[in-house]
Amino acid sequence: MIKIKQIRVDKILSSSGIGSRKEVKKYIRNGLVHVDGKVIDNPGLLIDPMVQKICFQGQEVFYQQFYYYMLNKPAGFISATEDKYDQTVMDLLKPKDQKNLFPVGRLDKDTEGLLLLTNDGELTHNLLSPKKKVPKTYYAKIQGQVTKSDKIAFQSGVLLDDGYHTLPSELKIITSGDISEIELTICEGKFHQVKRMFISRGQKVIYLKRISMGSLKLDENLDLGEYRPLTEKEIKELKVSI
Ligand code: URA
Repeated sequence: MIKIKQIRVDKILSSSGIGSRKEVKKYIRNGLVHVDGKVIDNPGLLIDPMVQKICFQGQEVFYQQFYYYMLNKPAGFISATEDKYDQTVMDLLKPKDQKNLFPVGRLDKDTEGLLLLTNDGELTHNLLSPKKKVPKTYYAKIQGQVTKSDKIAFQSGVLLDDGYHTLPSELKIITSGDISEIELTICEGKFHQVKRMFISRGQKVIYLKRISMGSLKLDENLDLGEYRPLTEKEIKELKVSI
């Protein structure tokens, strides 16, 4: 038996980027939406988007349930959907792409790099679940020298300021000097974790950028503030990697 999945028409239209739920309701009241050729007036009307044809201002709307974008987050933006004081990563998206997306986890306001934006709650849950231990790799510049003893300490875990002992992590030293460059892979996501791990070693992170999460790698062609949809291959690989 074919299972029919019925969804509210205002939800379909807003997640297709037509407008916010409020705007969509207004469009429906103004007679701009047709379902199977008939104008509708009920935003809560349940329809099956795989079978029924929805048109907005005469144009067919193609429903896609989930969206996945990779953003190269610049410093100065909060990883949230809204904030009272600061701009959020959602402000970097074109209005048509904002849909009902949210960032997967948080990067600090001054951290750059890979941020996944999606409306797929299950994938988000899996990526953030401590049980899944999804690896995240960061590139960082550190004030002062980073040495083999830091590498060994991170391998066995370090004690953070709140008494938490971190899981084993992998430190790669790219250069060591007055300012060192490193890559650190951690499998958890405590608040300010990378910065606090270096503080525990008496060092200071002066630049931080996430370069990968699970199988997903930051596309180096994306300038800061740019984003693009994930490819089918990236989505598939990400789902099987967790
Ligand atoms: N660790 C940090 O300290 N900050 C981030 O933004 C991400 C990981």
